[in-house]
Amino acid sequence: SRLEGKLAEAEAHLPPRTEPARITNWEELAFGILPTNGHVRHTWSSKTSSWDAGRFIRDPYMNMHIHAGVLHYGMTLFEGCKAFRCADGRIRVCNLDENSARMNTGAARLVMAPVPKKMFNKAIDWAVRANAEFVPPYGSGGSMYIRPFLMGSGPILGLQPCPEFTFMVAVTPVGNYFGKGVQSGVHAVICQDFDRAAPRGTGGVKAGGNYAADLLPLKLAKAGGFGTTLYLDAKENQYVEEFSVSNFLGITKNGEYVTPHSPSILPSITNKMLMQLAKDKGLTVQPRPVSWEEVKTMDEVGACGTATVVAPIASITDGDVKYEFGKFEVLNELRKTLMAIQLGEEEDRHGWMREV
Ligand code: PLP
Ligand code: COI
Repeated sequence: SRLEGKLAEAEAHLPPRTEPARITNWEELAFGILPTNGHVRHTWSSKTSSWDAGRFIRDPYMNMHIHAGVLHYGMTLFEGCKAFRCADGRIRVCNLDENSARMNTGAARLVMAPVPKKMFNKAIDWAVRANAEFVPPYGSGGSMYIRPFLMGSGPILGLQPCPEFTFMVAVTPVGNYFGKGVQSGVHAVICQDFDRAAPRGTGGVKAGGNYAADLLPLKLAKAGGFGTTLYLDAKENQYVEEFSVSNFLGITKNGEYVTPHSPSILPSITNKMLMQLAKDKGLTVQPRPVSWEEVKTMDEVGACGTATVVAPIASITDGDVKYEFGKFEVLNELRKTLMAIQLGEEEDRHGWMREV
């Protein structure tokens, strides 16, 4: 197709693979934004009903019409993935096919132009390669966080799909989402006054609005000394949904891996990989509704996602009562295995990693 021709041409201009440079304190990286060489940008126009070949742009600011759909009606979706500098010195990305599929599920839900998988992959390769010196060195504990996002950039006044969409890929080197203190565990609080997502709302896609809606609950949780919110289902307020920016997973007294199954939860790619690794280790894996009552009896609880990997949950507070979870053994084992695969220390049996 025409797009494939354009992408093939762009491939010839991919920058060389470079070594880590400039940042000296890689071990101290926070989960934040550092200046990089630039980002990749593609534009879709209703005039041609197609995407352009994309550009690499150094300026982190952009010009947009004041009536762009994203500014008023929240027409935006994002993804999160990571690139790692592996034991052999090469840079690999993890499970991108899942991210591109999830973005397109969201694009259909928000009536935005889908992003072809090839274009998604190429844009990520381009952004990572052109910023290769910002991929943290092997052994530093850091990684490159990749943020692909899609938004309605064309002007509209009445509520309707946008005449123009922009797809971008930005990157930044990061450390742990919860910081160095994560080893001692994160303290969660059940959000009693707000719901995250309705059963048939947009909780199952990575729409920007889901995160805006979580800001006040999160602010209140942090003011109470907690690290994250935990949401229950909006309909019955009985089943566990997920944390602020990560899925819920638990290990039962019988050693089973349990994770909530619900249409209003974001289908976490990390969770999917951990379920596979748990099966590989012979554990029983159960994606099913999980009541808060049941959670109180669990041996281990974790919060999983691209940014958090698998963070131990030390406690969950429900009103005045604090339930503590002491162990983090099975989940820690799974976390270590996933990280070893990502860093190329352990065989990638499921074909998740791809060299950039
Ligand atoms: N749930 C929410 C609400 C998230 O924001 C994230 C982060 O991406 C996740 C779960 C974890 O998903 P993934 O493992 O695909 O990063
Ligand atoms: C991720 O884990 O990649 C996310 O998208 C969560 C984000 C709020 C940092």
